[in-house]
Amino acid sequence: PIRIAIFASGTGSNAEKIIEHFTGHPRIKVALVVCNKPDAGALNIAAHHQVPVLLIEKEPFFRGDAYVAALKQQEIGFIVLAGFLWKIPAALIQAYPNRIINIHPALLPKYGGKGMYGRHVHEAVIAAGEKESGITIHYVNEHFDEGAPIFQAACVVEPGDTPESLAQKVHVLEHLHFPRVVEEVVRRYEE
Ligand code: GAR
Repeated sequence: PIRIAIFASGTGSNAEKIIEHFTGHPRIKVALVVCNKPDAGALNIAAHHQVPVLLIEKEPFFRGDAYVAALKQQEIGFIVLAGFLWKIPAALIQAYPNRIINIHPALLPKYGGKGMYGRHVHEAVIAAGEKESGITIHYVNEHFDEGAPIFQAACVVEPGDTPESLAQKVHVLEHLHFPRVVEEVVRRYEE
């Protein structure tokens, strides 16, 4: 089977949907959750589903290939970023060419880049008076939120929407589409 690592440092709701999607799957397995926050909800979700966890630290992560060896040793073949906010170092991208994808809670190329994550994205979308927002699933390259897009889905931004209500709409789209898109992309790498 292809072994996926999910990088998740938030509440982990997307990680959970992906883990559930692949439970019992014959060829694709969520083998690891990688997290940089010791108190992240994603860790509880991993424990609940008996997925092993790798808790990482900033200095070795950005130094380069420190964790590449750990991922290779665990035979990870594909990486899914689901609420992971650190920039992925070049060494990791080179070790997993076209095998790292991310989900972003807006319609890239708008509202991406450094500092644009979670609530900040939804605040910016509402402040700009956008009529729609949505999700973008894309390949990860050296530049924040600039890798080739794979899939987008949109939702309406209504006059009364708050960052919280918009976040909810975006989460609905994420949970609906992300597991299926991960499966489609990973299947391209099946031997
Ligand atoms: C998701 O909405 C994801 O799009 C966003 O973090 C949230 C994590 O939620 N990612 C980014 O903002 C990346 N720049 P979750 O922990 O409930 O899955």
